[in-house]
Amino acid sequence: MHEPTMDDLKHIQRPAALAGILERSVALDFTMASEPKTGALLQVLAASKPAGRLLELGTGTGVGTAWLLSGMDAASALVSVDTNVSFQSVAQQILGGDPRLSLVIEDAVDFLRRQQPASFDLVFADALRGKFEGLDEALAVVKPGGFYVVDDLLPQPNWPEGHGEKIAPLVESLVAHPQFHIVSMSWASGIVLAVRKPAAPPA
Ligand SMILES: C[S@@+](CC[C@H](N)C(=O)[O-])C[C@H]1O[C@@H](n2cnc3c(N)ncnc32)[C@H](O)[C@@H]1O
Repeated sequence: MHEPTMDDLKHIQRPAALAGILERSVALDFTMASEPKTGALLQVLAASKPAGRLLELGTGTGVGTAWLLSGMDAASALVSVDTNVSFQSVAQQILGGDPRLSLVIEDAVDFLRRQQPASFDLVFADALRGKFEGLDEALAVVKPGGFYVVDDLLPQPNWPEGHGEKIAPLVESLVAHPQFHIVSMSWASGIVLAVRKPAAPPA
């Protein structure tokens, strides 16, 4: 009799651009890149939003960006925001030719404050801003039925002193939010996937 097993990594389809981005990330000593399981989740969520408008807060070197682009259809668009020109330049060089991608150098919360409410189908909040600070601003731009995704919620070796204390309040804020359903997953680096509830039907 076979034991039931699942190999989370076995069937993952890595974006073609990923190897080059990871190579450049190592050269830059960029250690904050998303792991493959997180990327695979982003890929399938992106694929669920044909003609979607997607947002990544914290481009880094473009690892999450590449995964999101690999799931998106030709009519979808992705904006990715970072404050670090050096990190984002890797994404610019490797992914910048993709017309679906706009790269922005700006503080995440400043960017969010300039957006229309309910204007994105997916927000991958992968910077401290738009996650631990500016959570309301980030949630405000998520459309009904849209996703808000955060990772790195399980203890990570690169966490600064005191960072762990911020996790429970963030998760509790999401759990308690009346306009979102959430599922928390002790998977990959620890993920919460929140979905804005659909608009209520007319009375
Ligand atoms: C965890 S890394 C992003 C990793 C990337 N999303 C990936 O999937 O590999 C966090 C990024 O947030 C950026 N960052 C820091 N402060 C920021 C801010 N105020 N606004 C936007 N991005 C910021 C950092 O420069 C860093 O590249």
